[in-house]
Amino acid sequence: MVSLKEINESNFRTIVGMKLNEEQSKYVASNVYSLAEAWLYSEIAKPYAIYNDEEVIGFIMLDWNEKERKCGIWRLMIAEHQQGKGYGRKVLDYTLNMIKETGKFDYVSLDYVPGNAAGKHLYESIGFIETGEIEEDEIVMELELAKYGSNK
Ligand SMILES: CC(C)(COP(=O)(O)OP(=O)(O)OC[C@H]1O[C@@H](n2cnc3c(N)ncnc32)[C@H](O)[C@@H]1OP(=O)(O)O)[C@@H](O)C(=O)NCCC(=O)NCCS
Repeated sequence: MVSLKEINESNFRTIVGMKLNEEQSKYVASNVYSLAEAWLYSEIAKPYAIYNDEEVIGFIMLDWNEKERKCGIWRLMIAEHQQGKGYGRKVLDYTLNMIKETGKFDYVSLDYVPGNAAGKHLYESIGFIETGEIEEDEIVMELELAKYGSNK
């Protein structure tokens, strides 16, 4: 079962050592860089290790902006050898439910690098819609939480 756990002594080295291939490395910052940002923006950044049962399989970081009732999926990556097994979809489902259940957010936003076909397909299939905005050369998408999960 997929779940999220805080970064701690037991998963830190796996997260920091997780690599993507050259192409995918253009789509997401390194986990080391993300953890440095999480330290810098500690009031809003929520970094987590993604687990399948007891195994660490990826990394996700949220931008917890309660003030604007909008939560961002700041970073998401599944380790290269764990991709294509449905974990990306499962962890998004887990994360969106977790965000929705807090009752603190109306929207979830994220952005992706043009050309990231896997990301675009995954986000669109869940219900994210492009807002038309471009942020730092990335395409912004948004999901209205009220619409998420209501037909499940
Ligand atoms: C994007 C990412 C998180 C998806 O994780 P994953 O575990 O491989 O995804 P899943 O196995 O759950 O598959 C999700 C969907 O993407 C599809 N997909 C996978 N690779 C694809 C590709 N190259 N082009 C189009 N769709 C693709 C799968 O077919 C699946 O769709 P389906 O359920 O309709 O068949 C993963 O590829 C990744 O970490 N990429 C590198 C970092 C990245 O791009 N992060 C996102 C930044 S916005």
